[in-house]
Amino acid sequence: MKLDKAARHARKAKYRQEREDARHEAHAAAFLPAWGEPGPAQLRTPGHFWLPKHQDTTATLAGAYPFLAEGGLGADGVFVGSDMFGGASFVYDPWVLYAAGIITAPNIVLAGIVGSGKSSLAKSLYTRSIPFGRRVYVPGDPKGEHTAVAEAVGGKAIRLGHGLATRLNPLDEGYRPSHLTDAEWLAQVTSRRRDLIGALAETVLDRTMTPLEHTAIDVALSSAVASARVPILPMVVERILAPDCVDDPDGRLTEDGRQVGHALRRLVAGDLAGLFDGPSTVRFDPSLPMVSLDLSAVAENSTLISVLMTCSSAWMESALLDPEGGQRWVIYDEAWRLMSHPALLRRMDAQWRLARHYGIANMLIFHKLTDLDNVGDQGTAMRSLASSLLANAETRIIYRQESDQTKGAAETLGLTGTEMKLLPTLSTGQGLWRIKDRSFVVQHQLHPAEMALFDTTARMTQESRGITNEMTSHHSPRHAYLEGEQP
Ligand SMILES: Nc1ncnc2c1ncn2[C@@H]1O[C@H](COP(=O)(O)OP(=O)(O)OP(=O)(O)O)[C@@H](O)[C@H]1O
Ligand SMILES: [Mg+2]
Repeated sequence: MKLDKAARHARKAKYRQEREDARHEAHAAAFLPAWGEPGPAQLRTPGHFWLPKHQDTTATLAGAYPFLAEGGLGADGVFVGSDMFGGASFVYDPWVLYAAGIITAPNIVLAGIVGSGKSSLAKSLYTRSIPFGRRVYVPGDPKGEHTAVAEAVGGKAIRLGHGLATRLNPLDEGYRPSHLTDAEWLAQVTSRRRDLIGALAETVLDRTMTPLEHTAIDVALSSAVASARVPILPMVVERILAPDCVDDPDGRLTEDGRQVGHALRRLVAGDLAGLFDGPSTVRFDPSLPMVSLDLSAVAENSTLISVLMTCSSAWMESALLDPEGGQRWVIYDEAWRLMSHPALLRRMDAQWRLARHYGIANMLIFHKLTDLDNVGDQGTAMRSLASSLLANAETRIIYRQESDQTKGAAETLGLTGTEMKLLPTLSTGQGLWRIKDRSFVVQHQLHPAEMALFDTTARMTQESRGITNEMTSHHSPRHAYLEGEQP
């Protein structure tokens, strides 16, 4: 007890001494007064210096201080081009931005008028990210313009159409993810076949199936799978229209399956025949850097596009489920065309919501934002699916828009007045990038080799050349230029 008291006293005395020392030290030190030493060199007015706050554009402020620049998104990512305000390089990579916490949804919406350079930008973004280990998938390419790119990067374009030898078998087992056991794989193949035939039937029927029709398909499918090593669609159709007597003792199953049987028959014998009626001649190889489904030969038949894309989406989904599948771009070029099919839109929406889970970045390309309002009728499920695609895209790139479209675009995307006025003035390859709530105006730069590979103007320039030949005199400078003559 006594010892404690003595220790406390000693501690108190020590603190007192330290305080005393600090006070002496402060007295001894000489600080300059906060307002400077008195005298003419103080350069102080008796009043306070007061400047009103001023806000202005970077263009004006650069007159006073020229080194203004946008902070940018960092230097990691794929080179796109130059920031038109700062002049710096602009890079973009959805996976890098996601890892940095700048975006939470790796999906992109790209809108711009015809010929503004949208497809070229998409091609640049994906080809330039292939060296970083990303893969590319174009689930439907109605113009066939990604075929040359796919071949150039060592990938494959699957070209389907009437009169071509290519066949797609919807009953294919598809890609087997590495982690599945035999039993799990068998269960997955069975359910995938059932789902896919169901989805195809619904697309052709243009309505949802009844429970009776589900049963009819299921019975026919089981019988077809049991009877052949490589089951094909004609076997299923045949068994739906004429089931085994054992399965259908009273003839009611035949009756239940009549509508769905005839709908599917269109795919093997009717107007949609010639694509699905044999074993597959092509294989979806997810290990390739790029796979594109070239629909240019069937572009006039919207049911066929829908059916083909349903099949290919099912293939792709199985590849995406593989944990070793890596990261992938999924490009929906000419999306306004693809979005008119309810079954495809539903699949697309599911993939957009699961983008982070699958490690994919979806890109949707169309002409104007009001294209999304033309999907389905007002208030329908289709319309709300289309607008949810926009809501789930945190990167919105707007290429040139006609002046009558800018107001709608500004409202939908929350653009400022300056950004809105900018949209009709953008030229080819220039776009307004809205990444979350930041904006950039970017000039996309193409390498001459890319320019040659991505060119989509060949037909237009070729035709105008013919007209020019007839209409211009032989010695006009323009003619000389087109002919490649030296002036
Ligand atoms: N960044 C660019 N720099 C120079 N030229 C470009 C650029 N981007 C595109 N172009 C030119 O514009 C042409 C049309 O581009 P692209 O096919 O990408 O347009 P688009 O917007 O996809 O058109 P559409 O709406 O018809 O699909 C290209 O063939 C190319 O010659
Ligand atoms: Mg295009």
